[in-house]
This record gives sequence, structure tokens and C-alpha cells, in this order.
Amino acid sequence: MTTETNARPRYGVNSYLDWVAKEGLPVAYGVSLNLFEVELADWPRYGVKAAAAHFKGGGDYCNMFVVELPAGGSTLPQQHLYEEIYFVLEGRGSTQLELADGRKHSFEWGPRSLFAIPLNAKYRHFNASGRERALLVETTNLPMVMNLFRNEDFIFNTKADFSNRGGDDKYFSGDGDLYLLRPGNNVWQTNFIPDLATVELQPWEDRGAGSSSITFLLSDTSMHCHISEIAPATYKKAHRHFQGTHVLTLSGDGYSLLWNVGDADFERVDWSYGVVFPPCEGQFHQHFVTSNNASRYVATNVGNLRYPLTEARRKVSLSTPTQKQAASRSVKEGGDQIEYEDQDPRIHQIWLEEMRKAGITPRLELPKR
Ligand SMILES: [Fe+2]
Repeated sequence: MTTETNARPRYGVNSYLDWVAKEGLPVAYGVSLNLFEVELADWPRYGVKAAAAHFKGGGDYCNMFVVELPAGGSTLPQQHLYEEIYFVLEGRGSTQLELADGRKHSFEWGPRSLFAIPLNAKYRHFNASGRERALLVETTNLPMVMNLFRNEDFIFNTKADFSNRGGDDKYFSGDGDLYLLRPGNNVWQTNFIPDLATVELQPWEDRGAGSSSITFLLSDTSMHCHISEIAPATYKKAHRHFQGTHVLTLSGDGYSLLWNVGDADFERVDWSYGVVFPPCEGQFHQHFVTSNNASRYVATNVGNLRYPLTEARRKVSLSTPTQKQAASRSVKEGGDQIEYEDQDPRIHQIWLEEMRKAGITPRLELPKR
């Protein structure tokens, strides 16, 4: 027997957004955001100022928190069942962490350091400066975790032992292991990288002349992270992929174009250090350098080569070194990349005009159609 009710059923619940509101965190939102301009407020849980950064293309599974350590300040001790990758926007300090098996680690970070906290480790960040603030951003998979469990006590107060996520002790000291799989999928396994500006990258010519990259496996998380570099006065080929890849500009001058198939115009994001823009699911995007300096960005998301989370990513993980990935195969061959000779002619014209305005000689000539 069914019982009719006039009560409104609960639909469309987003437990992560409900939690952000309850925490009192301000939320910055945009196609792109400059993380230095995000408005912060006291976050009692962390004991410092912070904000959530959400994006049109941010996807369903990960978010960003911007966290400010005041001069001489530190966060309150933290422990939780979601994963996170930290990037240091400015400032110097240290992080102390303790795994459930009692092993303790500490490391000192500075501008452009990157690190991941092993799942459920206890940790605390300290600003080493008595005069300057430190500004950190973390990409986390809390939206996925909170929407799955919907139980704050479970996520923040579980004592389960995940010590194995810490891996080799050397991973906390800036050392690591390099696995050369294939261009675009070469891996540096570690937990802490002192400075992304000086990390050695591996060539990835399929994505455009002079392109190079390295993928990170950090603290045995299931989160993805890679750095790409684009050669001076050139640009990469357009491509598309899974939602939620949070692209953060590290260095260089230029811009990115984003568009969906059938769009009359491009969406444009101008780069500066600290600007983030995740392209939407399946949205084409293309990165352009407009100076004589190489440009680097770091990208974070859920799902990596070791723990892909999705079938499409697992196919990439398990393919042979010589198999060409959809990410670097032409759309004409069923892939997700637009070759230079197939791109909208306006794209090259826009770039040439930007180069002319900047007084820079282009170093990329398009192949003949
Ligand atoms: Fe991309």
C-alpha cells in the first residue's frame, strides 16, 4: 500500500556544498580565478583564514581551498579521510605530520612547493616568517568523499590506519623515483617537491613543438597531478578531456582559449601566476605563450595513472608505451586532440596579433593544409 504525502521530497542534495556553508567558508566562483584575489574569512576548523574556490569547469569530484597562514601563525592540527595536494603560492614554512604507525615527518616549503598529505595522517602547517603571510592552495577530493559518506564525524574523526600511504621516508625529503613510461605519462613518485619551477620535465612532442611534462604520484593518493611546459613563443595543440582538471599558471606570459564544439566564439583566460581555470568536461582548450620565456602550469584532478578511478583513464594506464593515447591522437582518428593543420584559422591569427602587440617573433609555423 502506498501512502501519499504532501511533504516535499529532498532532491538534488549536495552534501559538500551544505558542509561548506555550515563551515562558514566564503566561496569564490568563476570560469577562472586569481587565487591571490580570493576573499578569505576565519575558518575555525583550521584556525586561520581560508576560502573555497569553485569553478564552472571544476567538475563533481574535487575542489580547492585557499588557506592563509598569518605571520608567525599555524593551522590547528588536522586529520581527515579525503585526499589533498597542496601548492604554496607564497611564503615559507613547514609541515609536520604523523602517520598512524607513529612515524613522524616534517619538511620545509617555500614558493612553488607542492606536496600531498597521506590519507588520514595528522598534520599541521607552520609559517616560518614573523613578518610575511604564507598563502597555500589545496586541491582535494572532499566533494566526492562528502557526497558519498555525508558524515562529518566519520570523515574528520576516524582513527583507521593508512600509514602505508606515506611510502618511502625519502619521499618527504624531496627525493623520489622516476618511472619513464611514455611521453605524456612519465612519472615522478614522491610526496614533496621543493620547487615546481626547477623540476626536470620529459619531452612530449605529440602535444606541440617543444612541449614537455611530468606526472606526479604523490603520497599514494588517487589524485592526479602533472606539470606541463610550453616552449617560448609557441603554443600547444588544442585538446579535450575529463572534467575537473584544475590548471594553475606557474610561470610565463600568455593565455588559453576554451570552447565547445559548435561555439561561435572562444572563452579566453589570461595567465598570471596563481590563475586557475579547469576546462569543462569535453571542452576544447589550447594554451598560447606570448613571450620569449617558457611557460609552466600545474594541473590537479582526481584519478591518476596508478589509481585511474574511471575506465577511460584505466585504458591510458594500461596501454603499451607505443600506443598513441586519445589525448595525443587527432579527433580525425577518434582522438581528443586537434592538429595544428586542422584548427580554426582564427586561432593562429589571434595569436599572431598578440605576438605582434608584444613585439615577439613567433617561433611556430603551421604545417601547410
Ligand atoms: Fe587539458
